[in-house]
Amino acid sequence: MASDEELFRKIIAHAKEYGYVFPSSEIYDGLSAVYDYGPFGVELKNNIKEYWWKSMVQYHENIVGLDSAIFIHPTVWKASGHVDAFNDPMIDNKDSKKRYRADMLVEDYMLKIEEKIEKEVTKAGNRFGESFDEKMFRETNSRVQENLKKVAEVKQRFYPALDRNDLADVKLLIEELGIVCPVSGSRNWTDVRQFNLMFSTQMGSVNEDASDIYLRPETAQGIFVNFLNVQKSARMKIPFGIAQIGKAFRNEIVARQFLFRMREFEQMEMQYFVRPGEEMKWYAYWKEERMKWHLSLGIPAEKYRFHDHEKLAHYANAASDIEFKFPIGFKELEGIHSRTDFDLRAHQEYSGKKMQYFDHELNESYVPYVVETSIGLDRTFLAVLSQSYREERLDDGSERVVLSIPARLAPIKVAILPLVKKDGLPEKAREVMDSLKYDFRCFYEEKDTIGRRYRRMDALGTPFCITIDYQTIQDNSVTIRDRDTMLQERISVYEIGEVIKEKVEVAR
Ligand code: GAP
Repeated sequence: MASDEELFRKIIAHAKEYGYVFPSSEIYDGLSAVYDYGPFGVELKNNIKEYWWKSMVQYHENIVGLDSAIFIHPTVWKASGHVDAFNDPMIDNKDSKKRYRADMLVEDYMLKIEEKIEKEVTKAGNRFGESFDEKMFRETNSRVQENLKKVAEVKQRFYPALDRNDLADVKLLIEELGIVCPVSGSRNWTDVRQFNLMFSTQMGSVNEDASDIYLRPETAQGIFVNFLNVQKSARMKIPFGIAQIGKAFRNEIVARQFLFRMREFEQMEMQYFVRPGEEMKWYAYWKEERMKWHLSLGIPAEKYRFHDHEKLAHYANAASDIEFKFPIGFKELEGIHSRTDFDLRAHQEYSGKKMQYFDHELNESYVPYVVETSIGLDRTFLAVLSQSYREERLDDGSERVVLSIPARLAPIKVAILPLVKKDGLPEKAREVMDSLKYDFRCFYEEKDTIGRRYRRMDALGTPFCITIDYQTIQDNSVTIRDRDTMLQERISVYEIGEVIKEKVEVAR
């Protein structure tokens, strides 16, 4: 079996070979942490977007959409706190010249100890079988207790140091914990410095007129500044949501994990405006709803988990991540944040314009509280891709690579394959293609043996192959082959549409 790292490399290579994802400007040796989506990648990406949009906007009467500009008044980023606080603490190793996020080094250190604890518990569970009392074991086992104490001590020192912006103490902690550079193995660290993640550029033609503006690091602020425009024009009543899909940009310090951490990426965000005091109820509601959405994709539940935050962003009073088990480990896929009234209040203060809502039921005005759901489109793409990639050895001893992408997300839904390139079969296949192509993304191929064409469609993730053979000419029947089971069934050409539709329809 391939190691996780090897598997990750294979997925990246597969994504390139099969037209899903290319490194940006590859002929110039690429641009770090920037990627282009190829012919099949763009289809998968669009299908994920559509699936999210439908389930958030179309299926919720009280959620509407928005497409705000990437450029936004620079004061927005001052008000939101991004100019002053959207920083990551960075540290360099002087021997390897590699740069790291200092907070991640410490968090990885704690994670390793926590993993040790879990291993200890699992081992004991296996040893004692049914009589195992896990709670008691955790509370009394000396090694578990010692490790728990270690983690608690690091947390107690680390998070307050970050809150105080005491970077000298963060460095001291890294040294005291004996954290080494994974590349050089040395402890020869620079000081820790804060690094603002926003990209800036200039707007205006002449130097004197030009003003510094930022490329948005989140789409959410475009929603906040349009809160009243949307509420009034669409006659929304609290609670209501505004959803948006769009590009975001971050000058990430560590950006070497393919689509996981990019400098240009896409977010699918929804801000839900609620009455002050009701935010925790809605926060719990959206945590559950969003997990349900992930599970509805058909990916097994054990691939997901919640991670409730201890250290909160400057705008939040509660936050949780939905983490996914990528080949690089369990990592954040989506954030659910209770953002209080921080953003609207800050915009009210900086703009001098009221950001209030008049609640007719309560007969009072207030600045609404906000619960946000924010999911990375590229990370969802990576989750789907890595979950789908499989190498299989078949009964006849041959091997195949298959992308078991859920049918409703698959870039190509159906391949139309005439068995041979003669005797009227291509013409008949074109007829079948014409009857399907307005409803489904189809792919026509007549080159190569049928077996090879099946393999190519498996590797591309196409859930159905329709083969047109001599019998089709006689009785209008075709074979439909299922990508995952490889089983074939004979059906009438008139049934194809219904059979495919059933599998690819969006779940409600
Ligand atoms: N508006 C809140 C916000 O932006 P975040 O946790 O910083 O919160 C939300 O980002 C989501 O955006 C993340 O859960 C992740 O899926 C995605 N994301 C963030 N940074 C990313 C990056 N550099 N590359 C790809 N996706 C990223």
